[in-house]
Amino acid sequence: MSTTATSQTPQATTDSLEIRDSRTGTTYTVPIADGTIRTSDLRQIRVNESDFGLMGYDPAFMNTASCRSAITYIDGDAGILRYRGYPIEQLAGKASFLEVAYLLRNGELPDQKEYDRWVHDITFHTYVHENIKRFLEGFRYDAHPMSMMVAGVAALSSFYPEAKDIFDKRQRDISIIRLLAKVPTIAAYAYRHVKGLPCIYPDNDLSYSENFLSMIARMSESKYEANPVFTKAIEILFILHADHEQNCSTNAVRAVGSSHVDPFSAVAAGISALYGPLHGGANEQVLRMISEIGDMKNVPAFVESVKQGKGRLMGFGHRVYKSYDPRAKIVKKLADEVFASVGMDKDLEIAMELERIALSDDYFISRKLYPNVDFYTGLIYRAMKFPTDYFTVLFAIPRVAGWLSQWEEMLLDKEQKIARPRQIYTGYDERPFTPALDYRKKLVKF
Ligand code: ACO
Repeated sequence: MSTTATSQTPQATTDSLEIRDSRTGTTYTVPIADGTIRTSDLRQIRVNESDFGLMGYDPAFMNTASCRSAITYIDGDAGILRYRGYPIEQLAGKASFLEVAYLLRNGELPDQKEYDRWVHDITFHTYVHENIKRFLEGFRYDAHPMSMMVAGVAALSSFYPEAKDIFDKRQRDISIIRLLAKVPTIAAYAYRHVKGLPCIYPDNDLSYSENFLSMIARMSESKYEANPVFTKAIEILFILHADHEQNCSTNAVRAVGSSHVDPFSAVAAGISALYGPLHGGANEQVLRMISEIGDMKNVPAFVESVKQGKGRLMGFGHRVYKSYDPRAKIVKKLADEVFASVGMDKDLEIAMELERIALSDDYFISRKLYPNVDFYTGLIYRAMKFPTDYFTVLFAIPRVAGWLSQWEEMLLDKEQKIARPRQIYTGYDERPFTPALDYRKKLVKF
């Protein structure tokens, strides 16, 4: 089902839903606005005075809007993705990532002066306290870089206690700049730590993407010059991953942020959610799946096993897109450019064969399972020689821009409160406790 682009304020409407409760014979009229009813309006539907009232049951939020948002618009059936009204196809390749980050947060594109200031501020906050570096050095040599990211970003919170003042706009401004600036530095330190290489300090003469690549790859050269195909790929991939409305990690940031914790802690929660294999971890799983397949000749048997329910074709399918993911189209083109620059290998050929078979197989067609953005991004990162377990980090860096925009929108939304869903209790009714075990008799003395 597609979402609907709506105005900023609820529509005044005479549309309504009539509900007849067969338990009492009473009919209720519930207003419809923006194609939704408010589930709190159902609470008036009760069988008697002591009844709590009717609730909606919606595990995994399959059909529940948790907020009003003016940031990102997706029409999953039509394959549309827009940031603040601008189609993703127009932003990717024409705008810079920092311009898009500004747009997401502020709602409008920056003018030259605003852009220069924004870039300057982010560039000059890229250094992290040396204790953050030492903290990251404490991880084992084989630590997953996403664990280091979660911990590193959460640790930043302790360096900026003033960030707790979330209703002071100046504090939000500086926290947002610090997070956008320092997350790539932490990400690069995590990369170098696992490789056993010394950390490279940020270079303020470089662009956001070039500086990141410099912190990743620079060795003894006095000035790092990135491969321009790689810089372009990183810049576009960062734009494509900057926001994606109410996905699992954004929902995590909003839910955790709704407790009014500081943004460093809320973003750390988003990174944790992104780590999971059904979300940002999928691009890593794509490459693991390909290496398990091992050879082109095993592809048909692998696809057959997926169709029999023995595992999933990672990088295929999406909760919202039931047609081609618009980001996947852009990434596929980008992948061709990167492969032309560095060449194809056996794994890339297996991936292309998987894609070819799946796109012509009725199992995938009938379930509207198309390649999602993660199918191709993993292949690009692999071609750029990033280790597989680093892929999700490359997703997390740009998503910080979206998380922070969504976090601030949530904070300033007068309708939002601490996120606290209801439940349908399915456990025991009250029952008496009778102490029976020996250890309780020994340890608990009343
Ligand atoms: N491979 C094989 N079958 C699949 C796949 C897949 N990748 N995805 C869904 N299906 C099948 C299901 O088995 C189910 O079949 P059935 O109707 O016969 O039972 C049907 O398609 C619907 O699947 P759901 O699980 O109900 O779809 P849902 O919208 O809940 O899941 C998800 C979306 C989690 C992305 C799923 O497609 C999946 O697991 N994909 C692989 C992981 C992946 O690539 N995740 C990245 C998502 S993009 C992102 O987070 C940036």
